[in-house]
Amino acid sequence: MSLSVVILAAGKGTRMKSPLPKVLHKVAGKPMVTHVVETGQQLGANQIIVVHGHGSDQVQDVLSDYPVGYAHQEQQLGTGHAVAQAMGDIADDARVLVLYGDVPLTQVSTLESLLDSPADQVALLTVELKDPTGYGRIIRNDEGKVLAIVEQKDASFEQLQITEGNTGILAAPAGKLRQWLNSLDSDNAQGELYLTDIIAMANADNVAVNAKVVLDESEVLGANDRSQLSVLERAFQARLATQAMKDGLTLFDPNRVDIRGKFTFGQECVVDVNCVFEGTVTLGDNVEIGPNCVIKNTTIGSGTKIEAYTHIEDAEVGEANNLGPYARLRPGTKTAEKAKIGNFVETKKAEIGPGSKLNHLTYVGDAKVGKDVNIGAGTITCNYDGANKYLTTIEDGVFVGSGTQLVAPVTIAKNTTVGAGSTITKDTEADSLVITRARAKSIANWPRPTKNK
Ligand code: UD1
Ligand code: CA
Repeated sequence: MSLSVVILAAGKGTRMKSPLPKVLHKVAGKPMVTHVVETGQQLGANQIIVVHGHGSDQVQDVLSDYPVGYAHQEQQLGTGHAVAQAMGDIADDARVLVLYGDVPLTQVSTLESLLDSPADQVALLTVELKDPTGYGRIIRNDEGKVLAIVEQKDASFEQLQITEGNTGILAAPAGKLRQWLNSLDSDNAQGELYLTDIIAMANADNVAVNAKVVLDESEVLGANDRSQLSVLERAFQARLATQAMKDGLTLFDPNRVDIRGKFTFGQECVVDVNCVFEGTVTLGDNVEIGPNCVIKNTTIGSGTKIEAYTHIEDAEVGEANNLGPYARLRPGTKTAEKAKIGNFVETKKAEIGPGSKLNHLTYVGDAKVGKDVNIGAGTITCNYDGANKYLTTIEDGVFVGSGTQLVAPVTIAKNTTVGAGSTITKDTEADSLVITRARAKSIANWPRPTKNK
């Protein structure tokens, strides 16, 4: 039986107080609805239909790279009405799974086991809650058979005591579901077309309802406001951190790490507190990362040590490097093995050769640095003339004295020694000493200015 996933995403999310539709608010750097679409893909859905309403253009924009179909729900007349909007594109012999654009943390394995039940019956995901307020309640008979769902606002006092809640997630055979949705009415406390009413209808049609109780509540939590959004974020981060530790990563504090993308690592890597990994980040073996580092779309070679407060973006870091503290590697930085980029050094579009050292207070941009180069503190590659950017080439074995400007385009030839405080505007000769600083002149017994009376 083919699987059609319907994702409800029409709500505005008034309590978010945001111009963005609710489902576009992010968890782990990714819009909630994107998480749900990816879950549908991982389930092997043959069809994914997103029901949009508020901010539909924005939703379609965000999902433009995903193979999803859309159904528009003009007015939010209830969850049953929302699912009905998608049914037009779904064949009778398909199985429909209903998910929610603002419930991003449901695990694929949980849904797979929900879908393990017979496809021609109804499968319902429920949750045991300490405080079930707000949830539809699961009505079972004495044998434990699920008979109906009663919404909070329609429930009797006795029904409100039930602590098994409806997650909203369910699967049903499309043909039957279509019939049931067509016979929904809004004769209830909210005047809505409730998807939940199909459970009683299934019973009336002698279609079995198989309930599965989810164990981890966070898997079925939704976000209606930013406080709930932060709960989802923390729950998701906790899950990622736990998984990372299971996969062999040492985290000094799993509560103080944020992973927003695809983070992979080799053996014996260690991450200190408050690090953020964004986009695709890959660590080799034995990488050590100090506290408060931000690393985005970057590969780090084995044996590299990154000290506190280092910021790296779109870079390729070689093996056995030493970075930071307080280093900033901007996009296009590529280092070979055993490079050293120290405190308050900024690099951009820069290739740094093996064993080369930029130890402190330096800017190297649009540059190619050879091997075993030593660049002194306060060295600047002047790559920009106000209109264009130019390349600085620093060949193997060069020593650049402190406080030097290298005005690009310029090549500092092999084994050049540049004297401290120089401004180099011309290519140098290999093995030479180049120095442009004025000689010191001394005025003896010079009277220092004194304060005016
Ligand atoms: C729903 C369930 C309730 C369950 C709860 C779990 C119904 C009638 N009730 O209640 O049993 O315990 O979820 O959170 O289904 N939506 C649309 N279009 C609509 C209405 C809703 O797209 O016309 C979307 C909303 O944006 C939201 C989701 O469906 O993402 C759930 O709708 P909501 O109105 O929040 O349902 P609840 O009252 O929470
Ligand atoms: Ca809700």
